[in-house]
Order: sequence, then structure tokens, then C-alpha cells
Amino acid sequence: MNQEHERLPVWDPALRLFHWALVACVVGAVVSVKIGGSAMGWHEAFGLAVLGLIVWRLQWGFVGPQTARFSAFVRGPREILTYLRGQWHGLGHNPLGALSVLALLGLFGLQAVLGLFTYDEIAFRGPLAPLVDSDWQLRLTGWHRALEPLLWLIVLLHVGAIFFYAVVKKEDLVRPMITGYRRPPSGVQDVPPVEWGNKAYALRLALTIVVALAVVYGASGAWIPAPTPVAPVPGMDW
Ligand code: HEM
Repeated sequence: MNQEHERLPVWDPALRLFHWALVACVVGAVVSVKIGGSAMGWHEAFGLAVLGLIVWRLQWGFVGPQTARFSAFVRGPREILTYLRGQWHGLGHNPLGALSVLALLGLFGLQAVLGLFTYDEIAFRGPLAPLVDSDWQLRLTGWHRALEPLLWLIVLLHVGAIFFYAVVKKEDLVRPMITGYRRPPSGVQDVPPVEWGNKAYALRLALTIVVALAVVYGASGAWIPAPTPVAPVPGMDW
């Protein structure tokens, strides 16, 4: 087996950067919300970053390299059963792992969107909270809080699955998520071409980043006019 066959390209640089940036932003959002008070500004910033990352990843699922595309890994129950019987041979996310990818993207995306409309009844309002009435602010805040244990659970399952692969199946999934390359799994003969480092890749990356940044700008509420200050009532200087 030559050198090329020992290193199959699997995760492109942008996808890897996305993954570890998502981990960092989720950790940042959790730490800042636990600190509270003036750190809530950081919580908002990390939440907006999570939203931007997920928006970018959703686009990458359609225009990114093969292994990043949803069409390459989102599969129905039949393929999941095939995988569970040990008869699936592929390079990227397996059909079962794909479910956890969708759950991670969906739940973290939902959490970031809910956060935009929150109000903590003290001092912090999400950037788009002025767009909904106070009943909805409180309702969405309740959902934002209720989702937290589910997020812990899905992250625990995700990290647990990677640990299981490392210990039981003797397969290191973490290294490819850092280097982009993996050893060939059994049953995979074809060496896919490296799909990154060319102009088309750079162009798609630039366009998807621009769209993600535009969404983050919209979500930041920077375009919402500040409320007009209430004019002081003459004679009431308290
Ligand atoms: C807040 C914590 C985390 C979140 C939200 C998260 C999210 C994700 C997502 C969305 C994917 C799919 C990648 C894609 O196709 O876009 C993924 C894959 C992956 N994650 Fe994480 N992740 C977290 C923590 C971790 C940690 C701590 C590790 C390492 C121990 C890790 C290792 C991996 C690996 C190896 C994959 C690829 C799995 C495969 O080969 O199918 N993740 N993660």
C-alpha cells in the first residue's frame, strides 16, 4: 500500500475549523452564562457565533466537499440497519452517526435562535427580543432554559460514541477531525481526490462565509432602531 492509500482525505480544513470553533463557542457560551452578570454580553456573542457556524455548516452540507454533504451521509433506516449488521463500508459519517450530526446541528441551532429572543427579567435581553411581546420573550426564554439538559445529553452521547470507537472498535476518529486524513476503513477501495485547496473550494467557502456573516448581522439586532428615550416630565426630577 503506498503512502497515498494510507492517508485518505476525509474532512476538509473548513469543516475541521468549524467543528473545533463550535466546541470552543459552546464552551464559551456555557461558561459565560454560568458567570452571569456582565459576562452575559459574552454569552450573547458566543451564541451569535454558534448561530453563524451552524448557518455556515448547513450551506456546506449542500456545496461542500463530498464527505461534508448531507446527501453523502444522511440515510434511512435500511442503511442504518445495514451499518448495525456491520455491512456498511464508507469514509465519512456512518448512517447512525449521521443522526447525531443532525441532532447536534439542529439542537444547537435551535438553542442559538431561541437565545435571540430571551429576557431574563433582570437586565439581559436577547438582540431580537424587541421583535416579540413580553409573553413570547418569557415563553422562548423558558424553552431556551429547558433545552439545556438535552444539549448536555447529546454532547455526552457524541463524546461517548467517539470514546467507544477508540476503546472498543480501536478506531481513532479524533485524529482525522484534526488532520483531515484517516486510515482506509475495511471495504473502502477507492481513494477519493482531495477536494480542497483549489479555486472552486475557496470561492464556495468565501460565499458561504458571507451568507453566514449576513445572518449573524441580522440576528445581532444591530439594524433595530434604539427605543426613543422618554422625555423628562417637567418638575419631576426624581
Ligand atoms: C460542545 C461539544 C461538541 C459539539 C457541539 C460537537 C459537534 C459536532 C458536529 C456537529 C459534528 C459533525 C461534523 C460535521 O460533519 O459537521 C461532530 C463530529 C465529530 N466530533 Fe464533535 N462536537 C463536540 C465535541 C467533541 C469533542 C470533545 C470531540 C473529541 C473528543 C469531538 C470529536 C468529533 C469527531 C471525531 C467527529 C467526527 C465523527 C465521525 O467521524 O463521524 N467532538 N461534532
